[in-house]
Amino acid sequence: MEFDFTSRWDRRLHPSKKWTRYPRDVLPLWVADTDFAVAPVIVEALQERLAEHPLFGYTAPPKALVEALCQWSLDHYQWQIEPAWQQWLAGAVPALHVASLALTEPGDELLTVTPIYPLFLDVGKKTGRTMLTVPMLPPSDEIPHWHLDRDAFENVVTPRTRMLLWCHPHNPTGRVFDHEELEWLADFVERHDLLVCSDELHCDLIVAPECRHIPLASMNARIARRTITLWAATKTFNIAGLTTCCAVISDAKLRQRFRDGCEGLMPSHNVLGLIATEAAYREGNAWRLELLKVLRSNLTLLERHVERWTGITCIPSQATFLAWLDCRHAGLGENPQQVLLEKARVGLSDGADFGWPGFVRINLGAPTAIIGEALERMDALLGPSTNR
Ligand SMILES: Cc1ncc(COP(=O)(O)O)c(C=O)c1O
Repeated sequence: MEFDFTSRWDRRLHPSKKWTRYPRDVLPLWVADTDFAVAPVIVEALQERLAEHPLFGYTAPPKALVEALCQWSLDHYQWQIEPAWQQWLAGAVPALHVASLALTEPGDELLTVTPIYPLFLDVGKKTGRTMLTVPMLPPSDEIPHWHLDRDAFENVVTPRTRMLLWCHPHNPTGRVFDHEELEWLADFVERHDLLVCSDELHCDLIVAPECRHIPLASMNARIARRTITLWAATKTFNIAGLTTCCAVISDAKLRQRFRDGCEGLMPSHNVLGLIATEAAYREGNAWRLELLKVLRSNLTLLERHVERWTGITCIPSQATFLAWLDCRHAGLGENPQQVLLEKARVGLSDGADFGWPGFVRINLGAPTAIIGEALERMDALLGPSTNR
């Protein structure tokens, strides 16, 4: 392999959120960053900037970055976006909050699905809006993957509902919504006159060969007019600490309202984040393709272990480096995350934070040796002959 996906970095040497939350003997597989060193092209781009121009005043997105995202969108998603549509900012979560504040009124309703990346659930409370949630449907005999409960969407929406907070590919189930579902969703949004914040941060991490990512806004011109697409290189290229994200908004009026909302709330651009993101989109694809191979083998390893575990089910993720485990029938009590932490010494994410107690989310974005070690620890607790 051309790139290094095996080195075990001691991330406690620097204040890593992931590696400092739990005691030293716990393997942390929770927050969504990975334990891989970034692509060499990113390191080189940053080093060059530091050596050549050691000034870090207020900046603007470089033209080459803006063009690189247009090209990336065309190459990977056959969606032609314009430079003018791009609003670069400091993160997807701040963007969700700004969108709520700038584009809805106090007391309006926001809508999302559960389970969901926990910070989605806070947006309503933190911005004085009401959060409506629709539980997703688990796989069934007819539909073998997590999917939308269309009747529940229709039942929960009201005339006060203004905006859908959409996560696609979906964190935590790893679902890649397909054309038919997105078509239905676009129609639903139109019929109920909603705006959409489509968080597509995991879209460059499709691991299932039969899936492809379709940006929601690329479905048709009507949905494009209502949609803010959030894209970033942060998850795929492991640069979340460089806080750089892009809101792609094709409608000029919606873009202006969102931009006005950013003023005073969104910090200035991150100089190094813009440089790293440009390197990722211009020259990082070979590294990304190798990463996907590692993630696929980690996922296969997980599946092999899950088969041996009693009472745990996991539908293979189609995207992301995350997997969503149903532990409700594993005899681990009310809080499986806590039991796995205490007895297996693995630090996973608690499904309750995603709106679904009894589940856990595991982060597979680490060298296969680390994932293997974590799964063996879980074997000791979950294997058929163990005493829980
Ligand atoms: C779906 C999703 N959105 C947003 C974020 C966080 O994005 P940011 O760090 O840009 O605020 C994450 C991080 O895990 C995520 O998984």
